[in-house]
Amino acid sequence: MTRHVVPKAELHVHIEGAAPPDLVRRLATRHDIDLSGVFDRTGHYSWDDFSSFLNAYDRASQVFRTPEDYAALSESYYRMLAAEGVIYAEITISPDHAAANGLSYADYVSGLAEGMERAKAETGIEGRMIAVGVRHFGARAVEQVVTQVLAHSHPLVTGFGLAGDEREGHPANFASAFRQAAEGGLGLTAHAGEIGGPESVTAALDFLRVKRIGHGVKAIEDKALVERIAEEGVVLEVCPGSNIALGLYSNLRFHPVNLLRRAGCRITLNSDDPPFFRTTVGHEYRSCAQTFGWSEADQLAITKTAIEAAFCDKATKERLL
Ligand code: ADE
Ligand code: ZN
Repeated sequence: MTRHVVPKAELHVHIEGAAPPDLVRRLATRHDIDLSGVFDRTGHYSWDDFSSFLNAYDRASQVFRTPEDYAALSESYYRMLAAEGVIYAEITISPDHAAANGLSYADYVSGLAEGMERAKAETGIEGRMIAVGVRHFGARAVEQVVTQVLAHSHPLVTGFGLAGDEREGHPANFASAFRQAAEGGLGLTAHAGEIGGPESVTAALDFLRVKRIGHGVKAIEDKALVERIAEEGVVLEVCPGSNIALGLYSNLRFHPVNLLRRAGCRITLNSDDPPFFRTTVGHEYRSCAQTFGWSEADQLAITKTAIEAAFCDKATKERLL
């Protein structure tokens, strides 16, 4: 008997942050890379606050040295998603991380696309990529990412975003990069209201003209902002397990995802960096359903919101919806 699963979608997962520790260790051995301190004694990623998480993430990312390494990563991630009932997923890709490993943007994207296509051929799962600039690398680096994405256009790279340390650099610094990305036809999203407060979400909406926000949960601290998000139909890429692992909320009962939803905000559920936070998108759906009493119809509505907000063509959306 096949188990009945709710169809799911994921809009917010960093592909390097989805790397299973076993794969990272295997590649570290193959490429002779020292990963001391990256794992704890049980073999899980080791970190204890947002800065040390970003550091562990950067170190683990160093093992991906060839297009085939990235293909192995995306193929295994998309296969795992398909097994959880995910029908569509956008992976966040970081050209700066690939460049630090000596890989060109074109090789990085073609490796990831190869893995996505292999997984799709086996499972039917649909995928796209969102290229992000890293906020704490500064405005010039973020502009260079847009330039690369537009110069080497790839059918599966359909979005542009901003990740990294939200405590550094005002969104105004990145307005020009986002304007270029919008003119180039890319969908836009930015991390905000994760480590920063509601003012960070307002600034992202005002200066970057995004219609999706990565996280955005701190908006709950500003009633007028919650109303604005609901009225403007901004989609929040909520990652409850990530927020709890990083200590923003002590447990899911105190997480604002249900309050945001009840206030009329369009929310989606996502894993962010799944093995770092010991979660999966399937786990996010199940734990929210259990904690907040969400029915199967509620969960399907969340998937529908994600597909509506997805950075993919209309025909793909219509087929998935
Ligand atoms: N890069 C990878 N994970 C991230 C997160 N949760 N916030 C900001 N940047 C990230
Ligand atoms: Zn993220």
